[in-house]
Amino acid sequence: MEAIKCITTRSSVRKFSADPVEEELVREIVGAAQWSPSYKNSQPWEVVAVSGSRKDELTAMLLDLLDQKAPSAPDMPFPGCWPEPVHSRIKELMAKRSVLAGIDLNAPESVLRSKKANFRFYGAPCGLFLFQDASLGEWSIFDAGIFAQSMMLAAHAKGLATVPQAFLTDYSTEIKKFLGVPQNMRLLLGLSLGYPGGSVDEQPPRPERATLDSIFRFIS
Ligand SMILES: Cc1cc2nc3c(=O)[nH]c(=O)nc-3n(C[C@H](O)[C@H](O)[C@H](O)COP(=O)(O)O)c2cc1C
Repeated sequence: MEAIKCITTRSSVRKFSADPVEEELVREIVGAAQWSPSYKNSQPWEVVAVSGSRKDELTAMLLDLLDQKAPSAPDMPFPGCWPEPVHSRIKELMAKRSVLAGIDLNAPESVLRSKKANFRFYGAPCGLFLFQDASLGEWSIFDAGIFAQSMMLAAHAKGLATVPQAFLTDYSTEIKKFLGVPQNMRLLLGLSLGYPGGSVDEQPPRPERATLDSIFRFIS
């Protein structure tokens, strides 16, 4: 797929078919992402993919923690507040999604339902977890973000769909234990990976973007 088309047509998918994704294909996607740039070629990323019955066990564990009201403890704390104009964009996204869903998505019961859907990997057959050594700093988190986008673009180019999920970092200690990842690693992001499910109509419209002029200036 042509690069610009790949970037502009990738979108977060939240309804997957149950069709499995072969290990070889997951390896190809992660292998392609390894060509992402990184600070001094430090490549500060590690990925664990989980599928099949082990993924179902992980989902069950996360749902159980949620039922027990275990406090959310991501390795990277979620921001408490957002500055403008970022705050307005988030509010707009949530308002539009609330209208589509016919419920207030900011209400606690909606957040709970949304977390459960996230923990079920939205029905995807494969989950990816992105880690790096917790002693690394902001530049390395930056590198890992680029790596995550590379994985999503490679998946999209292969006809697969993804959604990056901060919610999949909620119970980082337990997830690391489950996946056999040492606790000195920082869980940065979870992603669902699979073939898109349902018809195009069943996927919510993709969120719009700010105008180019609001984020870009060309000085000459
Ligand atoms: C770091 C990060 C964390 C995200 N966390 C979640 C999440 O927990 N659950 C979810 O459904 N979507 C999550 N998203 C997806 C965003 O909502 C989505 O990327 C955004 O609305 C833009 O839509 P698009 O990806 O379709 O272009 C996350 C995206 C990023 C980059």
